[in-house]
Amino acid sequence: MRKRFYLTTAIDYVNGEPHLGHAYEKIVADVIARARRSLGEEVFFLTGLDEHGQKVQQAALDNGKKPQAYCDELAAVWKAFAKKLNLSNDDFVRTSEPRHQTVVQAILSKLNAAGHFYKAQYRGFYSPKEETFLTEKDRRPDGSFDSSYGQVVELVEDNYYFHLREHQQWLIEHIESHPKIDPQGREFIEPIYRRNEVLAFLKNKALEDLCISRPLARLNWGVPLPFDEQFVTYVWFDALVNYISVPAAQGDPAVLAALKSESRKPKADIELWPADVHVIGKDILKFHAVYWPITLRAIGLPLPKQILVHGWWQKDGQKMSKSTGNVVDPLAVIDEWGVDAFRYYAVRELDIGPDGNWTDAGFAARYKAELADGIGNLLNRSLKMLQSYRAGVVPPRHDELAPQADQVVNDTIAHLRGNQLQAALQRIGTLVTRGNQYVEQSVPFKLAKDPSKAARLDQVLYNLTETCRILAVLLWPFIPTAAEKIYAQLGLDVSPDKMSEAVWGRLNVGHTIGEPAPLFPRKDQPSK
Ligand code: MSP
Repeated sequence: MRKRFYLTTAIDYVNGEPHLGHAYEKIVADVIARARRSLGEEVFFLTGLDEHGQKVQQAALDNGKKPQAYCDELAAVWKAFAKKLNLSNDDFVRTSEPRHQTVVQAILSKLNAAGHFYKAQYRGFYSPKEETFLTEKDRRPDGSFDSSYGQVVELVEDNYYFHLREHQQWLIEHIESHPKIDPQGREFIEPIYRRNEVLAFLKNKALEDLCISRPLARLNWGVPLPFDEQFVTYVWFDALVNYISVPAAQGDPAVLAALKSESRKPKADIELWPADVHVIGKDILKFHAVYWPITLRAIGLPLPKQILVHGWWQKDGQKMSKSTGNVVDPLAVIDEWGVDAFRYYAVRELDIGPDGNWTDAGFAARYKAELADGIGNLLNRSLKMLQSYRAGVVPPRHDELAPQADQVVNDTIAHLRGNQLQAALQRIGTLVTRGNQYVEQSVPFKLAKDPSKAARLDQVLYNLTETCRILAVLLWPFIPTAAEKIYAQLGLDVSPDKMSEAVWGRLNVGHTIGEPAPLFPRKDQPSK
């Protein structure tokens, strides 16, 4: 049995349309998934939707729909979105699915039986908008609550709580003692400043117990508590479980054993848990780095190997907000520029960690410089020259650019293994630049005019064509459709989806290439 590289994204609330932030996270995860597959690993990539809770119940109500019908409609939109982004996910979870809910209930029953929960009365101020109780610390000096909490109401209610305090110390130790989980030196929580943030939080105050229920009177759109029908499960407890409910549904033996599930048959060939990477945004770090590990420990399952935390996008230096119209609609960008350009820009512009800023001008500039004039131009001029000077037939092997290509391949692989996607694209970009410089320096059109330079022209054309082939393999995880087009134009009828093909010299003498065509057409206005 072989453990798969198991990779997840946050599951999005289905209370609206997808925007740039959602798209970015899914693309980052998809690039990691494709890179691992290209490197020869078996991968299981999970994404999906978080359908329960107050926000979704409210959104359904506002639309005059029953929550399930509302979710079904929007789930179709979000699934289509995943396709549009060209995600290679292996499953798509919806938390309203029975396969998920049964696992949530099995876990609740197990933890309740083991004494992890207690019932208590709570009186406090509650923000329905943020689905959270507020404390005195959340008050402003004048006693009011910030307008971001919306209308705040006072509530008295019974609820179930999860004892957390006893877990605080081991969690601190786990985070501190897992700085290096593999030879690349990846941390349990990355980037390091996010790890430090969690440690500071855990060290500075006693953890408050987590309320894991909501009274039916307040919320009915959720998973019923198996041990008290007056309550549904708190949406975050429900949502986090998706990371193991899907492995359970897939037949992962470790998860099924922890749940003591007799209704499902373990499969020998699908070992998923523990997750290798949870890709999430910075706003949901506490749920993933505190509540989720504690829940897993209580269930008796190992912790995920890594929580990879990305930053937030702004547009034109402002928070994206539907009400002001300051949003980036990924579908509009994809329709205008193509999915590969969108994927490329998202990953190239913003490293995993810091916040980023989208500007349309920045997008257009990168498209022109790095896609149209960069890889697009290199491919097009190389193949056109091969076609006009050598009838599209590959000349004998020559290795002038091989050392540099080999270095770029090695560095790119190291970056991909460390999830350094931006650095990988930057490194790949140096090979594109080198290829274009090589054209300028070797001046093939002059060589073509002088029959005594025919051998030199052969050499130049081989180096250019083989560089383009290697680039297709390196770029495939990022821009799979464009990379496949490069291979097609090279007359290769396989996919560039294996990093093992990024070896100089695989392009054979005598091979005939296909039809050159612009890969990333220039968008400039035609000059008058
Ligand atoms: N449903 C929860 C996650 C549950 S995971 C078990 C949730 N959903 S969300 O739709 O609000 O956010 C989903 C992901 O999108 C989060 O990781 C969040 O950080 C990310 N983003 C939402 N807006 C974003 C930006 N403006 N920029 C980048 N990512 C952002 O939270």
